[in-house]
Amino acid sequence: MLRKSLIAAAAMTLGAASLSACGSSDSGGDSGSGGSGGDETITMGFAQVGAESGWRTANTTSIQDTAEAEGIDLKFSDAQQKQENQIKAIRSYIQQKVDVIAFSPVVETGWDTVLQEAKRANIPVILTDRSVDSEDDSLYATFLGSDFVEEGEKAGQWLVDNASDMDVDGDGSVKVVQLEGTTGSAPAIDREEGFNSVIGSDDAIEVIASQTGDFTRDGGKKVMETFLSSEDGIDVVYAHNDDMGLGAIEAIKAEGLTPGEDIKIITVDAVKDGMTALANGEINFIVECNPLLGPQLMDLAKQVVAGEEVEKRVVTEETTFTQEQAKEALPDRQY
Ligand code: AHR
Repeated sequence: MLRKSLIAAAAMTLGAASLSACGSSDSGGDSGSGGSGGDETITMGFAQVGAESGWRTANTTSIQDTAEAEGIDLKFSDAQQKQENQIKAIRSYIQQKVDVIAFSPVVETGWDTVLQEAKRANIPVILTDRSVDSEDDSLYATFLGSDFVEEGEKAGQWLVDNASDMDVDGDGSVKVVQLEGTTGSAPAIDREEGFNSVIGSDDAIEVIASQTGDFTRDGGKKVMETFLSSEDGIDVVYAHNDDMGLGAIEAIKAEGLTPGEDIKIITVDAVKDGMTALANGEINFIVECNPLLGPQLMDLAKQVVAGEEVEKRVVTEETTFTQEQAKEALPDRQY
């Protein structure tokens, strides 16, 4: 790997970090396989959140496959949803003098120290999927990912637009339970904020309970079981991802109720299992969150390493799906 620290230092100041390199290489495995195959190889250290959801699995595959296709030497680590593991992985990538570090922060806060270490080592950082909450945006070159607030707004808007059909028990109010993503994570914070900002316009809609299911199917199921025993008259589940919604479906069925009819379900992601449940009528609406970030990430990495200026924020384009739209889209769904 070849690094041009002076260019990098200058570019970091501009907010568009810059180092140089290009080349070939090995991929996969945890960090530590050491160095790249030659001077022209770009070596990327990627610290993934974990494997908590279908979305995450699709995201990891996209990153690994694209790195391989582009000849980028990818050092990959899975933090198992723990910030300390991600910090350890990033420190290891700094020690290995990779050309660029990319990561999807499990939570928003607590990154400044390790990002300052990367900056001092003149290694540019690309945030993918999730952002950090820091005053200092010179600590990363760019942030590639969805607008999670907008995703929450889309979910809320669909609920407001369909409120009359959502009052399942006809008591004049739409009682919503929320399955939150990982506490402190950007998608959990932003999807709640966006949703609340829109449903606030309709007095009949009320969030009666909200708890984290940690973005996992099992977590969604357990929390939904609790809600079903503690809350009366639940009309709607708003789940911050498909997997928690799918867990809620299991809990609803176990109570002898029909998901999608007795209790309406809105989720975020649009992975294959979620889209299948939507097409089958068990979910009512899905807001898409695109996990296929590999191609854009590798392009950004090449530009950043070459010292080129990149946009500080690259937003992923996304759509929404009704049950009818899911039936049409499902046959061509990649993930
Ligand atoms: O950060 C993206 C979110 O993380 C996805 O919506 C969720 O499924 C994943 O775990």
